[in-house]
Amino acid sequence: MRKRLLCIAPDNAHIAALMTGPIHDWDTCCVGNLGDADRALRTERYPVGLLLRARSLLRTTDLDSFLRRHRDTQWIGVFRPHDIDHAACRDLVVEHLVDYHTEPVDPVRLAWTLGHAHGWALLRRPSAPQDDPGLLIGRAEPMVRLRAQVARVARVDAPVLIWGESGSGKELTAQSIHAQSARARGPFVPINCGAIPPNLIQSELFGYERGAFTGAARAKAGLIESAHGGTLFLDEIGDLPKDLQANLLRFLQEKTISRLGSTRAIRVDVRVIAASHVQLQQAVAGGAFREDLYYRLAVLPVTVPALRDRREDVVTLAEHFFRLYADERSPRLTGFSNRAVAALLDHAWPGNVRELINRVRRALVMADGRLVTPQDLGLESPLVMPAALDDIRARTERLALRECLQRSGQNISRAARDLGVSRTTMYRLLSKHGIQP
Ligand SMILES: Nc1ncnc2c1ncn2[C@@H]1O[C@H](COP(=O)(O)OP(=O)(O)O)[C@@H](O)[C@H]1O
Ligand SMILES: [Mg+2]
Repeated sequence: MRKRLLCIAPDNAHIAALMTGPIHDWDTCCVGNLGDADRALRTERYPVGLLLRARSLLRTTDLDSFLRRHRDTQWIGVFRPHDIDHAACRDLVVEHLVDYHTEPVDPVRLAWTLGHAHGWALLRRPSAPQDDPGLLIGRAEPMVRLRAQVARVARVDAPVLIWGESGSGKELTAQSIHAQSARARGPFVPINCGAIPPNLIQSELFGYERGAFTGAARAKAGLIESAHGGTLFLDEIGDLPKDLQANLLRFLQEKTISRLGSTRAIRVDVRVIAASHVQLQQAVAGGAFREDLYYRLAVLPVTVPALRDRREDVVTLAEHFFRLYADERSPRLTGFSNRAVAALLDHAWPGNVRELINRVRRALVMADGRLVTPQDLGLESPLVMPAALDDIRARTERLALRECLQRSGQNISRAARDLGVSRTTMYRLLSKHGIQP
């Protein structure tokens, strides 16, 4: 297949000369402005792009946001002799281009640069289309099971109790259930029972009438009422004080509440989803949590797996957040280095997905090369840490697999041959290390 090149040039005269020279063997599409270039890139993937008279493009249009949108293409600029003295041109080179040339163009060097850029483009995987931020991402088996559970639970209206470590995705799971349920058009009201001071939870949840207590100048509806027609998410339910557990139980049984300072029962139609990072059975056994409330809430129990139990999703998630927070990074930064990937796979993730988000966002700010390093992520390079021989062996195996796959252009047969193993062994190793070719 011929190599595809997109040329953006304000003036055809410049292209004509190149066509007979360095780009004669490329499949070239030439456009005169960024609007046409946008359209071309929407219909076809161009691994390499050439910006001719790049300074004039800078002057007339919003080149920066265009290049951010199309960072899967490797861009090369051609400038007039003194253009590069201008700060805007230098910024363009540093931020967006893999290389630049000055007129008159040296055809041999340009041919070489184009080939080099094409090689780079092949090594890089194109980024996936923008993901829906409300979606539970992951292809690991526990995640597939969780999504199936969410879909099933969303069809009914009974209470759900979600258990999972901090940062594993309990709230996102609750949002997912709400979004797929018949209540999706109604409100989703989250309350963190551990974050509201105990003396305020009662009035926050149930509301109050005017004069119910000093300072209650006017009546206020509580959070339960405000979730009418939708879903109430009670996070850290284990932190709910005992007396309020009784009130909540009454609400779950009778579907009515009464505001503080009133005896009037108000009917509220709410689905309750509760979550906890501690096993509530233990709190029940210890007497801190009412057993009857526990059984009311745990009609449909759902467990969110810890990130370390779905390691094959770590890189997918890291790449998702890399895209999601694209605005916070330099466009020069194109992805994770092999060593960073190895470090991500090695880390134990005590803070789960929330920790992963924080590390990726930190790396976007810290990185100053083209690829994120383990240090940018705040994860020491795995090979220099003291470790058991088995660990070192596993890490080295992982690195070798990734490197061979990349070198072979993700061709499993070729990578297996390079490593001197059979295809079957190769598949076994890939699955063992959670690597998706
Ligand atoms: N499977 C997932 N896919 C995408 N984002 C996720 C996933 N799991 C968690 N997150 C994100 O990680 C962060 C922490 O998740 P959250 O639901 O608040 O965790 P928890 O409630 O268990 O502490 C949130 O920003 C959430 O959107
Ligand atoms: Mg939470």
